[in-house]
Amino acid sequence: SNMFKVAVVGGEGIGPEVTAQSHRVLKWFAANRGVPVTMREAQYGIIPYLATGKVLPEDTVEAMEEADAILWGATGGPETKEVPPAARKAGSLLSMRRKYDLYANLRPIVASPALADSAPLKAEVLRGVDFVIIRELTSGIYFGEPRGIETLADGQRRGFNTEQYTTNQIRRVARAAFELARTRKGKVCSVDKANVLETSVLWREEVIALHKQEFSDVELNHLYVDNAAMQIVREPRQFDVMVTGNIFGDILSDCAAMASGSLGMLPSASLGPVDKFGRRKALYEPVHGSAPDIAGKGIANPLGSILSVAMMLRLTLDRPDDADLLEKAVDTALANGARTADIAEAGATRLSTEQMGDAVLSALEKVAAKQ
Ligand code: NAD
Ligand code: IPM
Ligand code: MN
Repeated sequence: SNMFKVAVVGGEGIGPEVTAQSHRVLKWFAANRGVPVTMREAQYGIIPYLATGKVLPEDTVEAMEEADAILWGATGGPETKEVPPAARKAGSLLSMRRKYDLYANLRPIVASPALADSAPLKAEVLRGVDFVIIRELTSGIYFGEPRGIETLADGQRRGFNTEQYTTNQIRRVARAAFELARTRKGKVCSVDKANVLETSVLWREEVIALHKQEFSDVELNHLYVDNAAMQIVREPRQFDVMVTGNIFGDILSDCAAMASGSLGMLPSASLGPVDKFGRRKALYEPVHGSAPDIAGKGIANPLGSILSVAMMLRLTLDRPDDADLLEKAVDTALANGARTADIAEAGATRLSTEQMGDAVLSALEKVAAKQ
């Protein structure tokens, strides 16, 4: 059939809380805008582990396997210490990124004008911020071999990991960055540590070669990762598309969250290769984790997860107008003063996670009616 399939996997900590709201939003688009999508909910983490011995039970594997897109919540937290490392690793988020070859992780950072007064950075620094970090997600030090902890002859222990990148791994993610830049302001900043690391020397050489061969219309510059972290805070407006490896992208994207006001605001899309039918597996998730410090309180910001649905509408469901509509509804809710605790000015009313979902749904009704 021509229905798209979405697996909805809330996971652990605040994952199920924020995903409940983004799921409502996706259902709204199916019911009110004719978006051709079926949704299948599935469990992940400590709850199915206690019931079945697996963090990723068969039903969830099947739901994710058949899905065009996965709407993911979060993984991790103190209670998951009860799960033995082998069982945890077998169904980890990292193993899923690898299994579906989700190499291109898009993490857009947009500063909503409504949040200028509650954000940690100055309003003038945030004005006009709109850039995307493309993080390589299937290689680098996260997956390199050898890795481990060994005991040395003198009784000390030694932990070790391997940073590695191949030509193809660098080129395919760089290509994604150049292609995205062509649809935006035409600028790519490649971030590495080529003053120290061979992997980064290769990274830079391959990015430069690909640029010269196929993308010389795009403006390309390079930053060392330490400087990049500083520049993101000093003047985030200078960036359009930033491309970097797995671990640098992880760290820089949490840092960049401050250029949007809160980590709770950031969505992401993780995209696999395009197959012979023109399809690509995709996983959509907020950038944040399970937030054990606020889990179970119903106060987490669901907008990162909700904005991940906007990315899904644009990148998997081929509904750019509906993606725009959802982003507009989020802006409208914020402009009307809807605030969860993480984005609230002193003295402002703090909405619960569910109330923020309500605010977005009512803004959707209003914005859609005006069109
Ligand atoms: P975290 O992102 O969970 O939380 C960092 C801080 O940001 C916390 O103070 C938290 O309360 C706050 N925060 C995060 N999301 C928020 C939201 N939506 N609304 C309001 N505040 C929010 O990072 P952490 O505490 O370092 O990690 C906790 C666990 O999450 C770890 O086990 C980690 O491995 C895991 N994690 C999972 C993912 C994922 O599933 N993709 C991503 C990051 C971290
Ligand atoms: C993220 C997370 C993950 C990562 C963890 C949970 C493995 O921090 O998606 O940013 O480091 O990739
Ligand atoms: Mn992270």
